[in-house]
Amino acid sequence: MSDYMIKTQALTKRYGEQVSVSGLCLHVKQGRIYGLLGRNGAGKTTTMKLLLGLAKPTSGTVSLFGCPLQGNEKRLLPRIGSLIESPGFYPNLTGTENLAIFARLRGLKGVKPVKEALELVGLPYRDKKRFSQYSLGMKQRLAIALAVMHDPELLILDEPINGLDPIGIAEMRSFIQTLCQERGKTILLSSHILSEIALLADDIGILHHGVLLEEETMADLEAKNGRCLRLSLSDGKAAAALLRNRLGVETLTLEDGGALSVREPEFDTGEAVRLLVEAGISVRDVHLYEDSLEDYFRRITGGEGIA
Ligand SMILES: Nc1ncnc2c1ncn2[C@@H]1O[C@H](COP(=O)(O)OP(=O)(O)OP(=O)(O)O)[C@@H](O)[C@H]1O
Ligand SMILES: [Mg+2]
Repeated sequence: MSDYMIKTQALTKRYGEQVSVSGLCLHVKQGRIYGLLGRNGAGKTTTMKLLLGLAKPTSGTVSLFGCPLQGNEKRLLPRIGSLIESPGFYPNLTGTENLAIFARLRGLKGVKPVKEALELVGLPYRDKKRFSQYSLGMKQRLAIALAVMHDPELLILDEPINGLDPIGIAEMRSFIQTLCQERGKTILLSSHILSEIALLADDIGILHHGVLLEEETMADLEAKNGRCLRLSLSDGKAAAALLRNRLGVETLTLEDGGALSVREPEFDTGEAVRLLVEAGISVRDVHLYEDSLEDYFRRITGGEGIA
């Protein structure tokens, strides 16, 4: 079997003129939490729908558990649990009753699957409370319980922390971690909140305007962060050429608005400023700071940032 639970090859989805997902090569490894990070409209939900056979690719392929999805849907999809759009729970039934209906539909026998799924997400079994009386956090938990009830190997969760308060977020984080670490599940989740992905994911994919800009381990990503010198200038382009030619600076990024960022600067800042001023470029601001993940994303998304 392939090491990848999910692998896509040049996966593309167009809706008319709109390219929602473009040339995606995604690699989700077994037993890990993969965070798909992207702003609103980046293509996260579309990607997940393609992985779950809920949307048909315009081109490209999806492999699940080492097998092509196309033609094997009936065999592969039951091995996945997903939370992609709110499941249609009955408002007048309790959480237990709702899950029992889905359990019957899925051919699960006895009360055990329902009981265990509720236990896992910390909801009481046979509670009297109706779904309509649930808080948002409880609704979200019930949706996850439904996703894990048939004990799938792979979970695909679209924005599982959406709408939760800070305590709800921390609880959701902890049971997603439990699912991975103690139950050996592979989890693909999406979020537009960078700090959440940073706390939870082992691997990260950055989706921007339908394109996967980066895919790497969280550890590698964190190691990339370091000192950064940011210069606000009248002519960023000319300054970049000057610093490159005169001081041999290679780690330059030109931002929108003419600012220039230099990662791990190894030259004398005073000398750089003098060179720039002598060349007639005015230096409005010079700032040395620790590059954060946030800055990193801003850089790779061409200044737009991520959240
Ligand atoms: N059925 C559809 N028909 C037309 N365009 C669509 C359809 N579904 C999605 N899109 C477009 O594709 C792009 C990506 O949408 P998608 O829902 O995948 O983004 P997202 O990353 O999940 O965003 P959000 O964070 O807001 O949930 C958007 O521009 C969206 O308008
Ligand atoms: Mg979405």
